[in-house]
Amino acid sequence: MSEPRQILVTSALPYANGSIHLGHMLEYIQTDMWVRFQKMRGNQCIYVCADDAHGSAIMLRAEKEGITPEQLIANVQAEHSSDFADFLVEFDNFHSTHSEENRELSSLIYTRLREAGHIANRSVTQYYDPEKGMFLADRFIKGTCPKCGTEDQYGDNCEKCGATYAPTELKNPKSAISGATPVLRDSQHFFFKLPDFQAMLQQWTRSGTLQDAVANKLAEWLDSGLQEWDISRDAPYFGFEIPGEPGKYFYVWLDAPIGYMASFKNLCDRRPELDFDAFWNEGSKAELYHFIGKDIVNFHALFWPAMLEGAGFRKPTAVNVHGYLTVNGAKMSKSRGTFIKARTYLDHLQPEYLRYYYAAKLGRGVDDLDLNLEDFVQKVNSDLVGKVVNIASRCAGFIHKGNEGVMVAGDAAPELTEAFLAAAPSIAEAYEARDFGRAMREIMALADRANAWIADKAPWSLAKQEGKQDEVQAICAQGINLFRQLVIFLKPVLPVLAADAEAFLNVAPLEWNDLQSRLENHKLNPFKALMSRIEPGKVEAMVAASKEDLLAAEAKAPAGNGELSKDPLSAEIEFDTFAAVDLRVALIVKAEAVAGADKLLQLTLDIGDERRNVFSGIKSAYPDPSKLEGRLTMMVANLKPRKMRFGVSEGMVMAAGPGGEEIYLLSPDSGAKPGQRIK
Ligand code: MSP
Ligand code: ZN
Repeated sequence: MSEPRQILVTSALPYANGSIHLGHMLEYIQTDMWVRFQKMRGNQCIYVCADDAHGSAIMLRAEKEGITPEQLIANVQAEHSSDFADFLVEFDNFHSTHSEENRELSSLIYTRLREAGHIANRSVTQYYDPEKGMFLADRFIKGTCPKCGTEDQYGDNCEKCGATYAPTELKNPKSAISGATPVLRDSQHFFFKLPDFQAMLQQWTRSGTLQDAVANKLAEWLDSGLQEWDISRDAPYFGFEIPGEPGKYFYVWLDAPIGYMASFKNLCDRRPELDFDAFWNEGSKAELYHFIGKDIVNFHALFWPAMLEGAGFRKPTAVNVHGYLTVNGAKMSKSRGTFIKARTYLDHLQPEYLRYYYAAKLGRGVDDLDLNLEDFVQKVNSDLVGKVVNIASRCAGFIHKGNEGVMVAGDAAPELTEAFLAAAPSIAEAYEARDFGRAMREIMALADRANAWIADKAPWSLAKQEGKQDEVQAICAQGINLFRQLVIFLKPVLPVLAADAEAFLNVAPLEWNDLQSRLENHKLNPFKALMSRIEPGKVEAMVAASKEDLLAAEAKAPAGNGELSKDPLSAEIEFDTFAAVDLRVALIVKAEAVAGADKLLQLTLDIGDERRNVFSGIKSAYPDPSKLEGRLTMMVANLKPRKMRFGVSEGMVMAAGPGGEEIYLLSPDSGAKPGQRIK
């Protein structure tokens, strides 16, 4: 055996301001399968990740929800962690970029870069929101497109005509945060001198660290010359203050990749056998792999290696880039119900179905990957249930009935045993190369051969004949041995199926090397169904629930569904605008759950002279809706009626709070009467 390798693996750090969806999961599942493969091979493989917790988007969202950024990121971290765990993504550590380790490492790297002369500073003129008292990133400025005149366009490009421009070119610019007209203001910014690393990057990007398509894309940038990178932001900002520069913060993308190191450092403090320096110092023998999506290549394959080099750390062994997930051939869409959150999937389906489907479709390339929901059902049912599990369920019964669960010795099909063993190096190579699709095809071809052999031998017919018991036992023991080999091959993808199979096989956790042995004179445990078919109705229910997610977010009374609103968050309005809102005291006459909607309540409201039907996304806080009946609340009575999947909603009730269990319906003091206007 060769020396075990030391391997550190990361997935991109998910932003701490939103939920994980099936697009993200493509990355985390892919990485997890690769890590599990390495661990099964006996390598020391460490998988770290963290939430990416800094930046103005997170600061503003927390503000909008009326909580501190620290509270927001703690809530999101809990949600992300359980989504990942339930998808069987097994990190060695899931940390946060808002951590002490990251503060120290970011300071260290910045200080080393500065001392080596790689930091510049100069004044930058930018739009500033005088009301909110902050500089505005391009996406927080809206105005009229300078090219085609379309209103309400973001600060750097026009959705209508596709033009790109500087925010200063927008006509009639407005802050998307306060609605104020921004003013130009100067401020000192700090820059990382990326051009210092041009030669190193030319070489590094072509040294087998990147897929060809990625290296070619980067060559376009490298050939046209690199720019200095602006790494500072002015207060107010949620992040780390730059050492020695009060009021200046590291831009979120400066400390985000350092978060990989910080998460590992945090793990080292708990696992004394791990040596931080041995993994990160220049000249390290350990391997370092980053798995990322194609949208963040420049950060990982230009800025990051340059930062590491400039600060005297080792560079990544490789950056593995994947494409984007599409669903049913199109970009994930909220209205079509194909923008599917990790949790919505898990509410309806087993994680391993998706893990297998992604594995079957993932190659080494950067092409987008399509989750076709019909194909998903068909493929999982036919491969996993129809081929793999089928072998065990066909054979186990005869061994239990005919031989008290003991597998007899002897090899009833040496040619198959041989073929399975011969395929192992190629399957391992495919896993190593992240060509999961090829690995799955080779494994399923073996499963087909095993099934064909069993069908040909037909132990179920032999079992009915006199004197064929030995033959039946030999066939079925061989079937179970082949099944065991398939389980080893599939274990990186299907860890729960593997654990259940190990329980049935009555064996210790299987490793890759166990391919070399077989079970003989071995007692099995009773067979339990290892995996059931996907019922297409479950997929339909998941899509319906995803649509409903959107409706609930829209129907929810308080702001705070997480998405930064396209409209000004707290723009001033004229008194007339306010007076146009018909606010009334409303009596909740009836409150019921809506069939087929997880988040909505249907309310019947009495507003004096009439009754209104209102759908409201408040069920998470009022699981027993009948308790609302008879109480008073406040409603917007002249909101334009909205047609929803469940009926027409004729107004909106008013509530406060961040969401989930924390939604608080407003109520008037006692004495108020239904229908009274709020002034
Ligand atoms: N916070 C940054 C990464 C910092 S790494 C130092 C970020 N976060 S993200 O939440 O937007 O994305 C996390 C990962 O998920 C990225 O690698 C991204 O490419 C990937 N994906 C996000 N949406 C995706 C799809 N629809 N399909 C496939 N991957 C996707 O970027
Ligand atoms: Zn335009």
